[in-house]
Amino acid sequence: MKAAPIYKTNDHRWWIIYDQEEQRVIDSNVYVVESRGEFMILDPGGFEIFPQVFAAVTEIAPPSSIRAAFVSHQDPDIASSLPLWAACNPAMQWYVPKLWDGFIRHYGALDTPFVDIPDEGMDVILGGRKLSLVPAHYLHASANFHVFDAAAKVYFSGDVGAALLPPGHSAFVERRKANEAQEDKAFAEHIAHGARYFHQRWMPSNRAKKDWIERVRNLDIDFLCPQHGAIYAGAHVRRFLDWFDALTVGSALDHNYE
Ligand SMILES: [Fe+2]
Ligand SMILES: [Fe+2]
Repeated sequence: MKAAPIYKTNDHRWWIIYDQEEQRVIDSNVYVVESRGEFMILDPGGFEIFPQVFAAVTEIAPPSSIRAAFVSHQDPDIASSLPLWAACNPAMQWYVPKLWDGFIRHYGALDTPFVDIPDEGMDVILGGRKLSLVPAHYLHASANFHVFDAAAKVYFSGDVGAALLPPGHSAFVERRKANEAQEDKAFAEHIAHGARYFHQRWMPSNRAKKDWIERVRNLDIDFLCPQHGAIYAGAHVRRFLDWFDALTVGSALDHNYE
């Protein structure tokens, strides 16, 4: 895996760690944010890809300098590396959904300090800047959070926005800004990488989806950053929200197993 910058000012930066070599498990992105020398890792990933993620993180910062980790929900591709990170850096503060606290500890971290995120969400102050932990329940997990950094206009969207891309993929959904039709085409080509099935089958609730889209449309977002696939930048953010808005989810309830 490799690290690529998303947003960068003197003392405020975001990176994506992406394109894992190990393809036996679902391809996953990990994100790192730095604010005034303090680092947080977002959805640190699975046990299986820990060596690759750890090597990429060392390009950004000494792992011992990572102050906090954010866990959007309980899935193994999100959080099963927890005991390995905790062994490397026992001082790391873990932000986990309160509902999943006792489940996430099954990964093996009984003594790790957790901050339980309440259902209504909370703010985290990193290097004096605010990160909002935004409720995104039932998208797809019962308790599920995203992270919005209003200063950087970066929105980490967990499994929302996922696509299943082949090895060697880009960190960003392709832009063809000179031509609107070409830009639409680039978006459609990205979505064709399994995004429709992923959202229809993994996301259970149309009501949750509508509620989330209404809230997120009010935010000023330059980069929508999913845990699988590639980043939607600029006008692709609106394209994704429009596409998701029009999609019916919860497909297994219709016995639609395509
Ligand atoms: Fe998940
Ligand atoms: Fe995931």
